[in-house]
Amino acid sequence: MNSTIQKNFPYKKYVIDSNLQYFKPHSTKIEKSFADEVSSSLNRSSKFIHPKFFYDKKGSELFEKICELPEYYPTRTEIKILKKLQSELPPYLDDSFRLVELGSGSSVKTRLLLDIFARFQDETEYFPIDISEILTESSELLLRDYENLSITGIIDTYEGGLEFIEKYDNKKNLIIFLGSSFGNFTPDDGKIFLQKISSFMKKDDLFLIGLDLVKDKETLEKAYDDSQGITAKFNLNVLSRINDELDADFNLENFKHLANYNAKDQRIEMYLKSLVTQSIIVGKSNLSLQLHQGELIHTEHSHKYTLPQIENLMDTTGFEIKHIWLDDDKNYSLTLASKTEL
Ligand code: AVJ
Repeated sequence: MNSTIQKNFPYKKYVIDSNLQYFKPHSTKIEKSFADEVSSSLNRSSKFIHPKFFYDKKGSELFEKICELPEYYPTRTEIKILKKLQSELPPYLDDSFRLVELGSGSSVKTRLLLDIFARFQDETEYFPIDISEILTESSELLLRDYENLSITGIIDTYEGGLEFIEKYDNKKNLIIFLGSSFGNFTPDDGKIFLQKISSFMKKDDLFLIGLDLVKDKETLEKAYDDSQGITAKFNLNVLSRINDELDADFNLENFKHLANYNAKDQRIEMYLKSLVTQSIIVGKSNLSLQLHQGELIHTEHSHKYTLPQIENLMDTTGFEIKHIWLDDDKNYSLTLASKTEL
């Protein structure tokens, strides 16, 4: 890798070839380690493991499988809506837009957006932002299939990456945040996050966000507790990961996957329930942990929204909605917004 630092643009840049480069804008910032986070989130009376830890290699593979389950409607439905956008998004765009993605997709969804750009651009720029270097792999896959694509990967947090792009140049950005990933935020943190996004946007930038909608409890619970037990494996896998990476001794047979829809708070709540009274050692976290029979370790919240709530959410975080697309069954939404003009 060829690394250059220019004087007037003091960010670390890695040029791979003429159509692929990376920036690591804040590579010096220290992230709290996996061991430290697990140590504090398990060492309290209501135990918790953050859902970002689901995605090791095995967990990412299981998530891919979840996306194909008959019960897990979000991915399939979002793709359906993105197909509708092939004709309905171009009126909002012009030749001077680039695609910016929060999270690095190698997936069919990124490709559907790149297809839209290819309809009216000879050359397309794609800026994926991801905290993980996995970005490098997915970028190379995309370049194999898209001839007139140039990719600038930004290895940073979403906020850090957007702040970087704001200073980078004056090109217009279509920023996409798909997959209902926003659902993992608590309502308060979600608002703060959206406020940051709108504050880093320029006047002509656009933001496209995928949000899952409130629906009946049965459909929701089946989507998060499928008949093949893939979601259960996905949830339990985080314990295997802690065993492998942090020298712990969780016995997966002593835990059960739970997914409940909390209608009041409009969210799926996932837990790992301890089936017995047990003690566990997490070596690298310096932790010895007691769990009583029936005790829950909370692993994920996945929030669902109503249309008025989406309107209110965007409205109160500095956005002006351009359009909201839904599927025919009103299961899922894609919202396009610009920054509110002051
Ligand atoms: C990736 C957070 C959008 O909440 O639907 C799927 C994760 N967890 N099944 C979701 C998930 C269990 C997913 N998100």
